[in-house]
Parts: sequence; structure tokens; C-alpha cells
Amino acid sequence: METKFFGKNQIADAAKILKSGGIVAIPTETVYGLAASAYNIKAIENIFKAKGRPLDNPLIVHISSPEEIYGVVSEFSEPAKKLTKKFWPGPLTVILPKNKDIPLEVTGGMDSVAVRCPANVIAQKVISMAGVPLVAPSANISGKPSPTKFEHVVADLNGKIDAVIDGGDCEIGLESTVVSFISNVPKILRPGRVSAEEIKKIIGEVEVDKFVYEKFQKDQKVLSPGMKYKHYSPQTPVTVVTGSSEKYAEFVNSNMGQNVAALCFDEDIPFVKVPYISYGSISATSDQACNLFGALRKCDELNSSKIYAHYVKCDEMSLAIYNRLIRAAGFSIIEL
Ligand code: TXA
Ligand code: MG
Repeated sequence: METKFFGKNQIADAAKILKSGGIVAIPTETVYGLAASAYNIKAIENIFKAKGRPLDNPLIVHISSPEEIYGVVSEFSEPAKKLTKKFWPGPLTVILPKNKDIPLEVTGGMDSVAVRCPANVIAQKVISMAGVPLVAPSANISGKPSPTKFEHVVADLNGKIDAVIDGGDCEIGLESTVVSFISNVPKILRPGRVSAEEIKKIIGEVEVDKFVYEKFQKDQKVLSPGMKYKHYSPQTPVTVVTGSSEKYAEFVNSNMGQNVAALCFDEDIPFVKVPYISYGSISATSDQACNLFGALRKCDELNSSKIYAHYVKCDEMSLAIYNRLIRAAGFSIIEL
């Protein structure tokens, strides 16, 4: 299949393809998404095929304005209303009981549905011109780092999808915060730019699911099927290393003979004696979030046999970064 490349002024062409059952990658403020009509089963199947995504991993339904949620869910609880009022449009996804019109192919057979109203203007226009809510998982091959640039989408999906809209680089760079309202106490299933502390300020209480930090073991029950799978990984194996810049550099340098490389902070650069990629300053978590997936993609270019990724907790955004890093590392962590 030939993939069409569209510019920002070709949103109508993209919407036309979506209306006729095609699949199109679109920019959002978090990461690029691979969109299709939420009501077109064939198109939804094509998304799973193009990404190589396990069929039980449900998709997020994207709407162009907050009130469209009433067409997607069957119950919109007060806390969910409060939270979306504060953070929509934006990098927040809520999970609620699904409306009967949402196909089970979208939700991986579950009776809940994930909904997000993105802030990106191109995304909003594509959804409203398509005239239906759009499912949009991250526009990467399953298991690889999510795409934050047009070039990432092209690298993964060129020839496998109908079109991609070039909307430049994503502002946030990590996927939305996913909050489930299915259990009694609202639960964060995936941390993102909207932090637990910010959520607590609005709705009083929220828990962080244990699989945000822990590895899923076979036969355990997960609230979000996505938690079972490997994510964000370069070809080269990654290990997360925590601790000060001095300790980190000392550790990495002591493994120099084994063809290792560093995914580190700007502050580490003067000390590491191995090939490196920085993902930002140690205290600039917004920059780290923005750069992380691109940096993970570049790790393979260092031609090393091991990547040691430096992580230091800095602020409320750090949890989202830690969550992506430990997954990229398949939960291989060294605490110095
Ligand atoms: O920022 C984002 O959310 C991006 C952009 C494109 O909007 N989308 C995104 O979609 O990250 P995806 O498919 O890569 O991740 C969706 C996550 C998965 O971990 C999935 O398991 C979970 O949300 N999810 C979706 N529906 C769910 C449901 N009904 N219950 C529990 N988890 C759900
Ligand atoms: Mg994804």
C-alpha cells in the first residue's frame, strides 16, 4: 500500500479517508496516534494488523469536544466529570462503562471504554471532519517506543497505513494519563503529564495501580491489558540505573570494556566515557518527557550491546518517565 503524506492544510483529505474506512496517523499533543472510525470494525482490525498489536489490548476513543463523551459512555460519574472539566481538552484519558454502540473490538471485549479529548488542533479538526469518534492507539509498531515525530511514524508504518498527517513534533512526548473510574476509588493505570497530585486536588482521592511500578507476572489480573505487554523498547537491551551523576558515571565507565552506551542527562555528559545520548537536563522533566521516546529510538544507532539509562526522581512528572523507562528495560533496574 502507498502511504500518503499530508501537510497541515490537508486535514479534509485525511478525514475523507477515515470516512471511507481507511487508517490515518495523526499528531496529538502527547504522541502520534493511528486513527480509524470507532464504528468501523474492518478499519479497527487493520489498525491491529498494521501495529502488530495483541487483539485484547483495547483502544482509546478520541472525541473532538468534551460533550461528545455522552455518545461513548453509558455512565459519566461526578468525579470523572470534574476531572475532565479541568483537564480536557488535554493529556488525560478516562475509563468508564461503555455505551452499547461502542464495538467490543475497540475495548478488547471489555464493557468499559477509554475516552480522550486531545488538545492538538489538527487532531480536533480531523475528528470533527470525520464526523465520528476515532480510535487512536500510538502510531508505532507494538513494542517499540511511541512516535513523537512525523519521521518516527514513517519509519514504523510507511506502506502499512493509508496516510499520515505531518503535524511537527509532539509537545508533551509521553502518552496521556489513564484514570479508571471503574473501581470504587479512581485509579491511575498509566501515569502521564497530569500527575496524581493534580488529580487529587480536583477529585480528592486517586490510587496508583501497582503495575505502574511492578512487572506483570503470568496469570495475574490486570486492569489494563496494555500492562501485560513489553513496550517502548529499542533492539539493544536497556537497564535503568538510579543514583547520583557521580555514581552513575562511575558504574557505566566500569563497564566500558563491554561495549555499553549511556542514555543519560546533560549533567552526566562530562563524566561518561562511553557513547551516549542525553534526554535532557536532570531537573527538566518536561524536556525529558519530550525527548525520551526519540532518544530510545536513537539508542540502536550507538551500536552497543547494552544501554544504561540514568533515572533520577525529580518531581511529579518523574513517575511517568520512570514508568516508560522500566518498561523499555523490561524491568531490569540497578539501584546504586
Ligand atoms: O496519549 C495517548 O493516550 C495516545 C494518543 C495517540 O492519544 N494514545 C495511546 O493509546 O497511548 P495506546 O493504545 O497506545 O494506549 C492505550 C492504553 C493501553 O495501555 C490500553 O491497554 C489502555 O490504554 N486501555 C484502553 N482502553 C482500556 C480499558 N477499557 N480499560 C483499561 N485500559 C484500557
Ligand atoms: Mg501505545
